Amino acid sequence: MAISKFPRKLPLMAGIFVTVLSVAAMTSPSTEQFLSPGGDNEMHEGMACDQCHETAEGTIRQQVQANVYHWLGSRQHGADFLTQPVESADCEACHPMKENFHPQQKLRKSKYYELDTMLGIRECSGCHDHHSSSVMQHAMTLCMHCHEVWGKKPDTTTPTHVELIAQGRWETCLQCHEFHGGHQREKIFLLEDAHKVETIQNYLDGKSAAPYGDLRTPYLKERGTLR
Ligand code: HEC
Ligand code: HEC
Ligand code: HEC
Ligand code: HEC
Ligand code: HEC
Repeated sequence: MAISKFPRKLPLMAGIFVTVLSVAAMTSPSTEQFLSPGGDNEMHEGMACDQCHETAEGTIRQQVQANVYHWLGSRQHGADFLTQPVESADCEACHPMKENFHPQQKLRKSKYYELDTMLGIRECSGCHDHHSSSVMQHAMTLCMHCHEVWGKKPDTTTPTHVELIAQGRWETCLQCHEFHGGHQREKIFLLEDAHKVETIQNYLDGKSAAPYGDLRTPYLKERGTLR
């Protein structure tokens, strides 16, 4: 009984409803927030969707048509639907990161291929998820994957890098170092003078500001205003 009464068009209607809602919401700043996958948990609180999700080319009808032809096999590529995928370049439109000592080209080397499948380091969004309240997605010990060999550089800290690495104390790295170098920080040589592990964890969890000092270049509030 109950089953035969189930309106067969309900799933279709629901689909259309959601689609219309998404289109409306993506283009209207006041209602868009509730469609965000992280809800209110956002790394950039309240930022408009189109600062990262740029509108895809063509009308919605053209996009649907291109994708249907693609699925049917008569078109080689589908089209982006509603919005283009968010890429590192979208982040760099507001975070130019001129001083970055871990720029994407250094992390895209083939020797990191396996690590990339694990941590997704080829794109900014492998380590940072806007749709989450955390500033960073991985454990603060991630340095271990690439810095296990100190090499021949002078080792001037107390304890030394060689000692810290041998003891597997990877939580100490971010106590003295930043990952990108966005702040005007001073060199720290003594571990006892360094930021506390707890302070770093709170920052990575999005609970407090970065402890490293003033920004060298302020983050832009609108994309591309420097380009
Ligand atoms: C700071 C950049 C940024 C902003 C602002 C932003 N997003 Fe996203 N969003 C991303 C990234 C990065 C991804 C993952 C990569 C992708 O799918 O393109 C994503 C993924 C998504 C997804 C797909 C979810 C998934 O699990 O694949 C949806 C839906 C979405 N965003 C909706 C929104 C809405 C709605 C807003 C505005 C309230 C918004 N986003 C604002 C960066 C952003
Ligand atoms: C429209 C400009 C804009 C875009 C696009 C943008 N950001 Fe931001 N970002 C900011 C601003 C402004 C802040 C500081 C204010 C805030 O947290 O809301 C910030 C803060 C951050 C922080 C936290 C820094 C801290 O000290 O807490 C991270 C990490 C970050 N952005 C990464 C990204 C990534 C990754 C992307 C791409 C998916 C991105 N941003 C896209 C403007 C932008
Ligand atoms: C995916 C690999 C990778 C990870 C993960 C990684 N690094 Fe690096 N790091 C590099 C590479 C590559 C360089 C550049 C080395 C060069 O240019 O000779 C570098 C350089 C550095 C430098 C020297 C910067 C300079 O030029 O003054 C410091 C400091 C550093 N990393 C700290 C860290 C810390 C702290 C972490 C963990 C939060 C970390 N790294 C995680 C790959 C990585
Ligand atoms: C007590 C603070 C402190 C801690 C902890 C620390 N570092 Fe350093 N690190 C420094 C300082 C200061 C320098 C620069 C030394 C100099 O200029 O003489 C440095 C230099 C480096 C360099 C070399 C940069 C270059 O010139 O090529 C790398 C790479 C590096 N650290 C990675 C790490 C990693 C990985 C960890 C975690 C195991 C770590 N550091 C822990 C303070 C620290
Ligand atoms: C391998 C992981 C990883 C990748 C990939 C990565 N980040 Fe980060 N990022 C971190 C870590 C760890 C921190 C926290 C430590 C710090 O503040 O330096 C951070 C901090 C930040 C901050 C705040 C501090 C600052 O220096 O301004 C911004 C903004 C940021 N990242 C943007 C980006 C952008 C944009 C990209 C892509 C071009 C990117 N990140 C790629 C790991 C990563």
